[in-house]
Amino acid sequence: MPILEREPPKGRRESYVLPKVPVPPLKQTLDMYLSCMKHLVKEEQYQKTKAIVVKFGEPGGTGELLQKKLLERSDKTYNWVYDYWLEDMYLNQRLALPVNSNPAMVFPKQNFKDRKDSLRFAAHLITGVLEYKERIDTRVLPVDFARGQLAGTPLCMKQYYRLFNTYRLPGHKRDTLVIHKPGSTEQEHIIVACKNQFFVLDLVVNKKKLKEMDILTQLEKIVKMAENSEERQPPFGLLTSDGRTEWAQAREVLIKDSVNRESLAVIEKCLCVLCLDNPSGMEVGDTSRALLMLHGGGHDKMGANRWYDKPMQFIVGEDGVCGTVCEHSPFEGIVLVACTEYLMKFMTGSPSKMGRATSVSELPTPARLLWKTTPHIQDLLKASAERLQRLVRDLDMDVHKFEVYGKEFIKKQKMSPDAYIQVALQLAFYRCNGRLVSTYESASIRRFHEGRVDNIRSATSEALAFVKAMTDEKASLSDSEKMKQLWDAINAQTNYTITAITGFGIDNHLLGLREIAQELKMERPEIFTDETYVASNQFILSTSQVPTTVEMFCCYGPVVPNGYGCCYNPQSDHLLFSVTSFHGSTETCSAVFIKALDEGLVEMRDLCRKCNKPQSSAAPAASKAVENNQGAGSKLPSTLQKTGK
Ligand code: COA
Repeated sequence: MPILEREPPKGRRESYVLPKVPVPPLKQTLDMYLSCMKHLVKEEQYQKTKAIVVKFGEPGGTGELLQKKLLERSDKTYNWVYDYWLEDMYLNQRLALPVNSNPAMVFPKQNFKDRKDSLRFAAHLITGVLEYKERIDTRVLPVDFARGQLAGTPLCMKQYYRLFNTYRLPGHKRDTLVIHKPGSTEQEHIIVACKNQFFVLDLVVNKKKLKEMDILTQLEKIVKMAENSEERQPPFGLLTSDGRTEWAQAREVLIKDSVNRESLAVIEKCLCVLCLDNPSGMEVGDTSRALLMLHGGGHDKMGANRWYDKPMQFIVGEDGVCGTVCEHSPFEGIVLVACTEYLMKFMTGSPSKMGRATSVSELPTPARLLWKTTPHIQDLLKASAERLQRLVRDLDMDVHKFEVYGKEFIKKQKMSPDAYIQVALQLAFYRCNGRLVSTYESASIRRFHEGRVDNIRSATSEALAFVKAMTDEKASLSDSEKMKQLWDAINAQTNYTITAITGFGIDNHLLGLREIAQELKMERPEIFTDETYVASNQFILSTSQVPTTVEMFCCYGPVVPNGYGCCYNPQSDHLLFSVTSFHGSTETCSAVFIKALDEGLVEMRDLCRKCNKPQSSAAPAASKAVENNQGAGSKLPSTLQKTGK
C-alpha cells in the first residue's frame, strides 16, 4: 500500500500545528497487551501467548524490525496509523452498513400537523445544513478544544471537512472513501428519497442559491411526483443495505447501462441525502425511533428509502420520527454531534424564513433518478431485501433512561463519570455472563494531526476484581473492601483512558505492526495468528460515550454476532443507554443487560454512599499515566504535559 502523504490543514482558524500520533515504545505495548489479556483467556493459553510475545519482542527479533519500519513510516507521513486504521475499521469490512456499521442520531420527536408541516421542517433543516456547510467551506468553524480528561488542548478539525464531500464506494474486497474537493461545483445538489424514489434537488439554479421557500416548493413537487405510481422506479436503495461485496457485485451489473451509471454518479456526488419517510405504523417510542434510524424498519417500511453509502443522511418522517444515519468512515460520533447540535439550535433558534424570502422565479422540476432493470437486477433487489429483513428481525434494541442519578453524583464522588460507567458496564456483563470479555471503548486521538480513535480496553483486571467482589464474593467481603476494589477499577480505567487519548493505546500500535509486516511481505508473525490476539479483537462489548447538550441520542449495532453495542450519553441527572444485540445469539439479550446495568448502578451508588471517602482529586491516577508515558521515553505533546487534571 502506498504511503499517503497529506498536507497539514490550512486556514485562518487552524493555526495550531498539532503533533503527530506517537509510535508507542514496543515493550510498553507488549507488556500492556499481556496484562490486558491475562485474565480474559485460560491460563494455559496465556502462557502460550506470553512465550510468543516475549519471542516477538526480544532484542533483534521481529518486533524490533517492525517497530523500526513503523518509526520510519511515522517520519514519512503526517499520521502513520490513519490509512491502516481506516481500512481495518471500515473499508475492509464486508458486513452490511445498516446496523453493523452506520451509527444513527435520533432527534427529538416532532409533532407535525400534516405532511406540509414536515416538509417545512425538512426545508428548514436543509437550510441549516447549507449554512453549516458554508461555515465548513469558508473554514470559519471554531477549533474544538478537549474537555474532560486532560482538557484544554486543541483538536484536529479534519473530520468536519469530510461531513458532506465524501462517499463510500463499495468494492469487491475493499471499499474506497471518495473525497470530493470541498466547495466543488459538482456538489450543488442533494438527493431526496421519497417512497423509495430518488430525486435530484439542485440547490443552485441560474447561479442563484435556493432560499428556504424554494426548497419547500421543490420538496412539495417531489412528494407529488413520488405519488405517481406510473413512473415509479424499483427500490434501488435496497442494494446499498446489502453486504459490501454483494453491493459491489450488483453495482458492477448496474453500471453496464448508461442510465444507471448516470443515476449513480449523481447520487455519489451529492451533499447529503434527505429521506422523506411515510409514517412507519410503528408505535413511536425511543427504541422504535432508534430502529427506524438504524435500518428503516425493513424493506416494507422505510428500509429502501435510504442510500446507506452516503455519510450524511437526514431522515424526516411524516410521523415526527427524525434524525440522521451516517456512514461512519469519514468521521466520529463527536463530530456528528457538533454538526447536528448546530442544526437543532438553528432549527429552534432561527425562525423559518418562508414568509419573507423571495423565490428564484422559475424553478425547474426536480429530476427523478431513473434505473434500468433486468430480471437479473430484479433478483439482486429481492436478495438484498431478504437480507435486510433478516438483519431487521435480528436486531434486539433497547433505549433506556437511567433516572436514579447522573454524572453530577459521580463527580461528587471525585470519580470520572466515564470510568464509572465503564466499570458499571463490566459489572452488568459479568452479571449476565459470569465472565469478562474484550471490550472496546472509543478514545478520541484528535489531539494529534488527523487523529481518529484508539481503544480503551475497559475489561481491566481491576474491573474483574471489582465485579467479582460485587457478585461471587459479595457475602465474604466488607463494604470498605468492595469500595477499595471500586476505586482500583476506576483508577485503572482512568489511567487507560489517559494512555489512549495521549496516543499510547495498544490497538493502533499492534495494528500498525501487523500491517507493516504485511507490506514487507513477511509471513504473518505468530503474535497475530495466536488465539489470544483473535480473541482480543472480538469486541463482544463495543461501547462509546456520545454526549449531547441538546435532547437527542446516538445509537449503533453490535460489532460481533454474540455481542452488545452500548452507546451512552451521560447527563447531569440521568444516564441514557442505547443497547443493541442480536436475537440470533443465545448469549445476549438487551433487556436483560439493561436490567443488570440498572441494578449495578444502584448498588454502586449505595456502596459509594455508605463508604466512599472521595479522594482529593483524580489527579493521582491521571498524572501517573502521563508520567508513565513520559518515563517510557515517548514524547507527549507539550500541551498535554501542562494540562493534566
Ligand atoms: N472528579 C470529578 N470530576 C471529574 C473527575 C473526577 N475525578 N474526572 C472527570 N471529571 C469530570 C470532567 O472534568 C468532566 O467535566 P465536564 O462535564 O465539566 O466537562 C466530566 O467529569 C467528564 O469527564 P470523564 O467522565 O472523565 O470523561 P471525558 O469527558 O474525559 O471522556 C472519553 C472520556 C474517553 C469518552 C473521551 O476522552 C473521548 O475520547 N471521547 C470521544 C469518544 C468518541 O469518539 N465517541 C464517538 C465514537 S463514534
